[in-house]
This record gives sequence, structure tokens and C-alpha cells, in this order.
Amino acid sequence: MVYYIQFLKTPRVSPKKGSLFISALICITTDLGDDFLAEDVELIVSSIHKSPGFEQKVTWNAGNRELAINLGPLPSALVQQSMQLSIKLQPEVTGDRALVPLVMAATSAPFGLKLPAEKLVLRDGPREGLNIWEETGNSIARHIWDAGLASVIYLQRALEDIKTRAGKPKYKHLESKMPALTRLLSTARSSPIQVVELGAGCGIVGIALASLLPNCSVLLTDLPEVESIITRNIEEAQTAPQSSVEYQNLDWDNPPDDLCNRPIELILVSDCTYNADSLPALVNVLDRLVRTSPDAIILVALKRRHDSETVFFDLMSSAGFTAVQDSLQLPSQHDQSFFQLDPAFGTPKGYRSLRLQPLVSFLAKLSPLDVNATLLTTFHLLLAVSKLSSGAPFFVPLTSHEIIPSFSELPHRTSSKGPISSHGEDNLLQSSLTAKELVLDVLKKRATEVDVDHCGPGEEDAFYVADMGEVYRQHMRWKMNLGRIKPFYAVKCNPDPEVLRLMAQLGNGFDCASKSEIDLALQTGIDPSRIIYAQPCKTKSYLRFASEVGVKQMTFDNADELYKIKATFPDAELYLRILTDDSTSLCRLSMKFGASMDMARPLLELAYELELNVVGVSFHVGSGAEDPSAFLKAVQDARVVFDQAAEVGHELHTLDVGGGFCQDSFEKFAGILGEAVDACFPPHIRVIAEPGRYYVATAYTLAANVIARRDIPDPTDPSRDAYMLYLNDGVYGNFSNIIFDHQHPIAQVLTCASEPGTPNSATSEKITYSIWGPTCDGIDVISEKIELPGLLNTGDWLYFEDMGAYTKCSATRFNGFSDNHEVIYISSETGASALLNY
Ligand SMILES: Cc1ncc(COP(=O)(O)O)c(C=O)c1O
Repeated sequence: MVYYIQFLKTPRVSPKKGSLFISALICITTDLGDDFLAEDVELIVSSIHKSPGFEQKVTWNAGNRELAINLGPLPSALVQQSMQLSIKLQPEVTGDRALVPLVMAATSAPFGLKLPAEKLVLRDGPREGLNIWEETGNSIARHIWDAGLASVIYLQRALEDIKTRAGKPKYKHLESKMPALTRLLSTARSSPIQVVELGAGCGIVGIALASLLPNCSVLLTDLPEVESIITRNIEEAQTAPQSSVEYQNLDWDNPPDDLCNRPIELILVSDCTYNADSLPALVNVLDRLVRTSPDAIILVALKRRHDSETVFFDLMSSAGFTAVQDSLQLPSQHDQSFFQLDPAFGTPKGYRSLRLQPLVSFLAKLSPLDVNATLLTTFHLLLAVSKLSSGAPFFVPLTSHEIIPSFSELPHRTSSKGPISSHGEDNLLQSSLTAKELVLDVLKKRATEVDVDHCGPGEEDAFYVADMGEVYRQHMRWKMNLGRIKPFYAVKCNPDPEVLRLMAQLGNGFDCASKSEIDLALQTGIDPSRIIYAQPCKTKSYLRFASEVGVKQMTFDNADELYKIKATFPDAELYLRILTDDSTSLCRLSMKFGASMDMARPLLELAYELELNVVGVSFHVGSGAEDPSAFLKAVQDARVVFDQAAEVGHELHTLDVGGGFCQDSFEKFAGILGEAVDACFPPHIRVIAEPGRYYVATAYTLAANVIARRDIPDPTDPSRDAYMLYLNDGVYGNFSNIIFDHQHPIAQVLTCASEPGTPNSATSEKITYSIWGPTCDGIDVISEKIELPGLLNTGDWLYFEDMGAYTKCSATRFNGFSDNHEVIYISSETGASALLNY
């Protein structure tokens, strides 16, 4: 932990007892001002003038929150001059300038008798000649943070190491851990090395690199609020020969289309992970940068401030990055042990070191092809990062496709009806639970709360447990397998606001098909450019609404729709939806939507005549598709349409590969689709998809109550008993997926009141049941025949896994039953918990 001398009141010349003094108010705090230096230190306060200045010693005592400075009385010759005030620790140290002192010195901006000092402070960086201005106020962005210092030291050491490499390597651990960085910095080159810094703040890291490394072109980026201070620092920078530093505004939430028009070799990110909300946008920007600069190395320095920062590593890994981590010492007042990471680092007298603070991590991009093969490695590396920083692993990797979370970090849960408090939350912390066991545990606790003999009407209604950690895992799996393709989640599949919130946090877009779906997506706070109105036959008033709210991307597949769009929303960005072979899909869509290949060119020509803006091609191989070659054919057809569009005069930039991905066959489909896309479309073509069921199907488990039972002879063996069970949910409710989505939900016993050990208890021989819904319609059947252990009776509960897709959203209120069932949200992944604030 480094401490910084801050000016609470910037210095000025003030009269006192007939003389003039320099007065100021200072404190000594951490970079965020959340802790004060708690030990006695001697400070040297001096005025800097053209002629020799004036100096005085003051003491900061442990327990101080502020310290008034009164330097003087000033000799009259000095009073008229412009001056600065410098405050630093009593020098007791010689030697290695690469280490920062426990307390960072402060020099004020110039001031005089009539000239007040600006609210700025000049810091001597960790290298000679590196002087950086920062603000004295509360701005987060316009400050130097510890990880920025760590990055400067790290780069400086890498460069020193390169210089002395001819002899004995000075810093062995750098050589072994970050050879790619050393290689990059040491390569002889004819043109400058291209470096971009994200969230540059005061610019200390990028400016330090440009002053250390000759032939280096650094672009500093951040929000407009830092522009003035960063420009000042650039103007005063002493760059190395042939090196330059520039600044450009960059808002991660709204990166420009031409984010970077030159290949980048090094990306610097220091202390940018403290705000979990901004992490998806940051990772998205990094992902986009490495798409055009696939060999770029990213150097991330972070000081872990809270658990939600782990999300950064999850998101980076799901975007196909892997981390090599390293750490660096910074001084600490409480560690007297002079811990040494490497003897070569040497710890000079007076400098105290605390290992791993901040943690500096180095992240390198994997090529998409490597990702599958190295999935395990990736997680081991993350594990290493996590272990070093918090002692708790994120994941226990089992196989390359199955990632079961370790619950040594707490799974948190909330319910749509408020947090669950009376369920013995401690039980959930058992580290041996898998995600499914966690879900089952929550289901059982909720079910056993209900007393069907005394509860009010509807209190025994069916309910869901939704594991947002499962949605998060599916996202990671997507990124591992289809890193190039950006998901636009199909809202129709499950418009649960919690799912949409997570999608937004993960940086996904949304596929909407109606006004209210657009409303729901926008309610997450996303930009309308993250929505595609993927309905080729749109309601006119909805089109006007899309125009009003700025949802520009939309699909079409016929001439009438083009005329309608021309009249209603001529600026729209159009995707021509083409027909696919969906004959093997559960839910076929091509009989209703999609232009045939014969129709594609005439439609493109009509759009051109109407001066409409066609930007891409979309298709959908059918929901629940079974034949992966449908994707191959569709991608090839889309290529043909792209070429036709170019001939007609359109400049297409995006391919939309639709939905149709399933849990079981995902890797097989992704392999074929990914290869087809890469073979047919060059990297500058953006590729998006509209997955629905893939994300949510397995995340929702439904529990329903047995409301009635009827004894009948077993139809296949009349000598045995069979039973008809009636549940309080059926095909007109959450089991609508049986009718609309051709699903076959499988009942499992959640609770069975019959005594264990009795002939019909849950552990005994299987009993044959048929399972029915609560309405009076004969088609309301969930399962015509199923064998379950134990004799179930009224009041017992059954549960059904994989009920997240096309269930609740298509439930009706037929016969007066509810279509609005409770959802208990849990998260079996710390990453999802952090994003959702569970
Ligand atoms: C246009 C469109 N996109 C995406 C989807 C989502 O499909 P799935 O849930 O199979 O991924 C559908 C489903 O019907 C759709 O019609």
C-alpha cells in the first residue's frame, strides 16, 4: 500500500503576526483516500523559488487525519516570486529509484502572493524525470493509483532486464513469466511499437513507457473528463528518441466503429477493474482490439479491492483470453519483514514491502482454435490468479466441457418475493454441493415450507428455481467455442428481467420481436444499438416505435416489408433473412419466414432502388435444430447473398446466424458453424447470433404440487396398481413447452410423504403413473406414463429440470389458473453473483 501526500487546501501566501507564511492543509492517505498513514513520519516541507528556497521539518503522527503547514516567516525577497511547495518524506533512503517510497511526495502547482495555486499536485514518478500532475480533489479518474505505479515499475524492470540480458539476467522471474512482453519490448524495429492505454487517467503508465522506450508510439485513451490533465502531462513529458504520446477520448460503452485503425502490439490497462459494472464494456473493447490486432499483448495491473473484480478474469477467459500472472512488491507500513520476491529486486533501507499488492497480471490472447484444447489450462491459470489473490479458486475444472463450480466461495440467492431468510442459508455453503444439488436444496426447502392442509389459496402453486450461474456458464461455454460470434439473446425464449439483466451485464445484445420485448431489453439500460428487431413481418406501429427509440437493426424477407420500412423507418439497418433447410428442427420456422435464394437478388435490388440501407444477412436454422450441416449450408448461402449485395451496390458488414443452439449438441454445432464462418467471411465482417434456449433451458427447474390422485389398474399389467397424478401446473401453464416446443419434461420426486422403509416409500420399487395438469381439458397431460419411486399422494411435490426455455413465457390463464409463478433466483457462480449483486 502506497500513501500519497494530498493537499486538502492548496498552498497560499498568508499573513500571520505581521509576517508572511506559506500555509496549506495536507493529509497522507491511500490512493482512494480510504485509509490514513498510521505511523509517525518526519516530513521535509520546502518552498521552491528561483532563488534558494526555504525549508522546515514537520511531523505527521499516527492518528493524524490532517496536518496544517505553516512555512515561514518568508524572507521578503522570496515573497514577490512565484513559488511551489514541496512536501516529502525525510530522505533516509538511497539507491533503487525503481521502488516507490512508502509515502509519495507532493509538489504544488505554482502560486504567489496574488496567484492562488491550481488544485493540482505534481508527483515524482518512480523513475527520474517522470513528473505527473494529478488533481487534489475527489476525482477518481484524474488521480494516480497504485497499479499505475506498479505498471511503470514493471515496464521499467522489463526494459532494464533487456539491457542487461547480454550479461546475467537481472530479473529472472520476469524472463520466465513474461517472455512475450520481453520479446516485444526488445525486438529491433524500423517503425515504432504501437501501444494503446485504456483508462489512462493522468497518463502515468503510457507516458513512462514513451519516456523509457525509444521508437514507441503511445495512444492514451480515457473519458473526456481527463483530457485537460492528460494533455498537460503529455505536453511536459520528456519522451525517448523517436517516441511519441497522443491522447484520444474513448468511452468503453460507446466505442467508435473504427476503434483502432492501426495494428496494436501492446495494450496497457492499469487499475481499471475496480468497477464491476464497467467490466463487460472493458472486456468488449479489449476483445475488439485484439480482433484487429490478434498478436497484441495486454498488460493488466490491478490492486484487488473487492471480490467482484474476479468477474474481470471470468469475462476475459470467456472472451478467449488467458492469464499469465505475476506480482510486484509495493511498500507497506505494516509489513516490517522485507519480503523479497527475487533477490535481484533488492529492498533498500527504509522501504517496506508487502507481497502481492498490487497484483500485476499479464494476459495474452489465445487464438480461437487453441481455446478448446486449452480450456483446462485456461482455468488452471485462472485458478492460480484466484488463489494468489484471495485463496479461493473460482472453478474446479473437471472435463473440458463440464465446469462445476466450487462453492467454497458463497453462492448467494434471492427470491422474486424477497430474500429467503428462514431456510438455513448456512447449509448452502457446503463446499461439496454441485450446482444441481444446490438447486435441489432450495427447491426442497421452499416446498417443505408449504402446508397444503392449511395454506391459503395458491400458496402451494408451482414455482421455479433459476440458477443464474448456469446462464453464466453457458455464456462462458459460448465464448470458448464461438468467440467470434456475438450473442443477441432471443428475448422471446424467456423474458425474465433477471436473465435480461445478466445478458446486459455480460455485454450481449438482444433479439426482440415486439414492442414489449424491445421495452424489456431497453429497461436493462443498454444502448438501442444492442437490439436487433428480428421479426421479418413487423407491426407498423411497432416499427414507428422502433424508430422513436432508435432500434435501427431489423430483418426483412419480402418486398411488402421493404415498402413498409421505407414509409416508416427509412434509416433502418436491414438484414435480409434467407430461407434455410430446417427439416430436422423441433420448431420449424422456414415455412413462415425467409426469402428463397431466388428471391434474394430481386429484394436486394428493390432495397437499393428504395435507397434503403441493407447491412447484413440473417438466417435461422430452426429452433432445436438437429442437423449441424444446416448451419454450413446457411453460411454458404449467406456468402452468396453477400456477394450479390456487393454487385447490387450494398456494403454488407454483418452476418446474423440466428438461434437454434441446444445444450447437448452445442460443441458439435459450434465447430461446424465456426469453421464455416471463418472460411466464408473475413475477420472484418461482424458476426452475431440469436441464441435463446441455449442460454436458459437448463437454468430453470420447476416444482409442482400433487393436487389429486386417482387409483387405476396398470393398463399394461392389470394385476398391478397404477395412479393418475394431477399437478397444479400443466400444458396451459408452464408446461406449454410440451405443446409449443415439442418437449418431454421428465418428472422427478422432490418430496414424498410416505414413510421410508414402508412398501411404497420413495426408496422402494417403482410405481407407474400418468401425470396430468389441473385444467378440465383432456389434452392437458404432462406424461402419459412414467415410473417413479414411492407412492406419491396429494401434497407431495414433483420437479422438472430444464424448464427455462419457452415455458413461463407462453403460459396462459386458462381455467383461472395462474400464469405468474414465483421464481427463486440463485447463483452458483461468483461471477454471476457479482454481476447481479446477489
Ligand atoms: C428469429 C429468431 N431468432 C432466434 C430464435 C431463438 O431460437 P432458439 O431458442 O432455438 O435459439 C427464434 C426462435 O424461434 C427466432 O424465431
